[in-house]
Amino acid sequence: MQGDARELGFIKNDSIDLICTHPSYANIIKYSENIPEDLSLCDIDDFVEQMRRVANESYRILKPNKYCSILMGDTRREKHIVPLGFKVMQVFLDTGFVLKEIAIKEQHNCKATGFWHEKSIDFNFLLIAHEYLFIFRVLFWELFTLKITFNFFINTSSNKFNNTVIS
Ligand SMILES: C[S@@+](CC[C@H](N)C(=O)[O-])C[C@H]1O[C@@H](n2cnc3c(N)ncnc32)[C@H](O)[C@@H]1O
Repeated sequence: MQGDARELGFIKNDSIDLICTHPSYANIIKYSENIPEDLSLCDIDDFVEQMRRVANESYRILKPNKYCSILMGDTRREKHIVPLGFKVMQVFLDTGFVLKEIAIKEQHNCKATGFWHEKSIDFNFLLIAHEYLFIFRVLFWELFTLKITFNFFINTSSNKFNNTVIS
């Protein structure tokens, strides 16, 4: 199946049990030359905004209480870290997901490691050697259950109170 993660109209609302996604990290590695839907052609700010559309679609298609995991890493610009992982994490939180876990995945010996290794010596910075696996979920039913429990508790205690008054 092929598609654009920002536009999944062919998938029904609340129909997916698990989303595992590994987007490009903005334009660090370009996956195509001129496919307009390719998010690896976007620079950082645009990429983060496009990920908002991915988060909205993911939120729409995921069944309540199910999980959406996203693997993201950071990058460097002008010798400084750009926390791309946390920027994308925030986009998913803004959409309404809650964060279940953050797992750290070590990464070494990537295609670009040689390039970054030389730069890290020349310009005195640390190599990025990890990515984040953010595990989100949609909490709708949990909130619903909490509300029922809360209402049940309120009703039970007021019944008890009433009973006490009566007796
Ligand atoms: C970091 S790679 C992940 C590859 C994946 N882990 C795999 O093993 O196939 C990012 C992938 O996102 C794809 N991609 C780029 N823009 C996309 C979009 N709008 N919708 C869906 N996938 C997209 C790229 O073509 C690339 O294959």
